[in-house]
Amino acid sequence: FGYGKIILTGEHSVVHGTHAVAAPITLKMKAKVWDHDKGVRLLIPRWGVEQTMEFGADHKYSIYKSLEMILDHLDLRDKSMNIEVFPEVPRAMGMGGSAALAVAIIRALNKHFELGLGDDDVRRLSFESENIVHGGASGIDNTVSTYGNLIMYQKGTPPEMDMINLEESIPIVIGLSGVESMTSKMVKQVREQSESYPKWYKEIFKQMDKLAIESKAAIENRNLQELGMIMNMNHGYLNTLGVSCPEVEELVQIARHNGALGAKLTGGGGGGAMIALCDSEKVQKKIQKEMHQAGYDALIAEIKSNK
Ligand code: MEV
Repeated sequence: FGYGKIILTGEHSVVHGTHAVAAPITLKMKAKVWDHDKGVRLLIPRWGVEQTMEFGADHKYSIYKSLEMILDHLDLRDKSMNIEVFPEVPRAMGMGGSAALAVAIIRALNKHFELGLGDDDVRRLSFESENIVHGGASGIDNTVSTYGNLIMYQKGTPPEMDMINLEESIPIVIGLSGVESMTSKMVKQVREQSESYPKWYKEIFKQMDKLAIESKAAIENRNLQELGMIMNMNHGYLNTLGVSCPEVEELVQIARHNGALGAKLTGGGGGGAMIALCDSEKVQKKIQKEMHQAGYDALIAEIKSNK
């Protein structure tokens, strides 16, 4: 399996070299590989997918391109197999579904064909997949998906991964806008804007970098008030980058009006999900209820490290 993830601080700016903080969530992508008589069959019953791979075709969906790359890379193109995926992470909701899918499939192939891949091989190959799906990914999603750790991340070869220690988990609510969004489109939009206005964007990214670094300290010191303020400020910058949308804004307002210490978009934006930081289960439940009443799906979750 591969973990789904949330980004606490630093999405988008992390693509441009800043730090970002991300955590795994309990929702996962799971995959299983078993024998088949002819060809490679991909099955995702929950999404209505049942498809025999056509190698070299002009694939409409990036998942097939990514799968072709993974099979080529692992020298498995000529093998026959069923690959079945059990998705728990909602699709196109900014929760790292594509990275977790790649991690799960690579691990299932590794197990079935006894390839001897270690976690770092899984991370590297799932990064190649992310680059096909997102185009210019920072690598944060597939890193958290592989290791399941709460980390501060900075891209690079190899990337910088700073483990964050957390004694006690932190309660959050994940609000789902219900608007599916392509991270690749949002990353491209921010890149184009930053190329048109480098002077302004450089300053914004610098501020976002400071917020991400300070958020790590706030988590380690369990200063939830400060963490909440940092998240609110981070959301303001994401707004400046133009990656929010009316549904996410409504969810952020609901969370703040009902006791969240901080609330922000998480992931690629343009739809997708937001997170609300809470100081108690009572506040979590109240926010979830209000989000449900406004017609949104909302999940009670917690920030913790799995290792
Ligand atoms: C997507 O979960 C996070 C982004 O920063 C893209 C990336 O880092 O690859 C928007």
